[in-house]
Amino acid sequence: MDETQKNNAFYILAIESSCDDTAAAVFRNEQLITQVTSTQLEHVAYGGVVPEVASRAHQTTIGPVVDQCLKKAGVRPQDLSAVAVTIGPGLLGSLLVGVSFAKGLALALNIPLIDVHHIRAHVMAHWIAEPRPPFPMLCLVVSGGHTQLLKVKDHNKMEILGETMDDAVGEAFDKTGKMLGLPYPAGPVMDKLAQKGTRQFSFAHPEPGGLNFSFSGFKTSVLYFLQKQQKLNEQFISENLNDLCCSIQADLVEILLNKLKKAVAQSGLKHVGVAGGVSANSLLRGELQALAEKEGWQLYIPAMAYCTDNAAMIGMTAWFKYQNREFATLDIVPRARYALDMQF
Ligand code: KG4
Ligand code: ZN
Repeated sequence: MDETQKNNAFYILAIESSCDDTAAAVFRNEQLITQVTSTQLEHVAYGGVVPEVASRAHQTTIGPVVDQCLKKAGVRPQDLSAVAVTIGPGLLGSLLVGVSFAKGLALALNIPLIDVHHIRAHVMAHWIAEPRPPFPMLCLVVSGGHTQLLKVKDHNKMEILGETMDDAVGEAFDKTGKMLGLPYPAGPVMDKLAQKGTRQFSFAHPEPGGLNFSFSGFKTSVLYFLQKQQKLNEQFISENLNDLCCSIQADLVEILLNKLKKAVAQSGLKHVGVAGGVSANSLLRGELQALAEKEGWQLYIPAMAYCTDNAAMIGMTAWFKYQNREFATLDIVPRARYALDMQF
């Protein structure tokens, strides 16, 4: 690497290990150079993420993932200006692996450590590539653990306008998918199968009021419907799999979009983004685009690689924090539960 170029740039290594992806990314100032993600396949056999298995897998993978990422980026450890890491929310054992690794690196290289909130990072994924939204914007966060409508004031200040009272929408995809016999995570599989089906069935749309969501009643209504149909026809699921996927997906997307419309009307915010793993859903992406055109919203959807868990979003958030010198101390501990509006 050219010495003069190095002197004009800050390099940040970002690490994500909150769930079942071990990921690293390298940023040069606000620009992502490269990212590496290793998704743990160990959980497929169990039909869901097993925390202990996840921590152990992170422990084996984190060294090689970081090493590969630095080599791909052409950046040496001694070129780094800071190390950023997801501090929560997530699985405690998994977070501990990433945080301990990052602390060790920060200490050895004598560079700042930056702690990043996982959900804020999902939102900040919008700033990785053009067009970057302005502040404030409205963001619908839809992941495996969260469903929230946020007023994003800056990289650190996000006001919760509404959120789920029980399950997250990603869980609704995964758990109803499991009822259909789909492998974990069921969301992407359901998305694919739904494209071959038609919307034949409809399920309960629980209404918790305001801008809040509720998906547990939806899940139960799918369960009761399947039990009833299977009593009449044992092959009901296999004979209707694509239509069931299409119907469940269409209902879930409808629930999300109805609340989003309401949030735009109430907040007056017309710059609208969507973030988190479920934003990879093709129906949601398509319907959002159509809705934004009809309603005159400026819509922001991150590229697929920045929707599901990744380290680029951690690095992007870290760049904002780096500029403000918002650094963590070496005694920081991960938080399995970490509310969006909570500060350390
Ligand atoms: O943000 P994420 O990668 O991890 C968490 O922080 O939770 O989100 C994972 C969730 C899972 O529930 C998964 O089924 C869902 O995102 N997901 C999808 C799709 N791709 C991922 N759900 C529906 N359609 C998809 N294409
Ligand atoms: Zn996530």
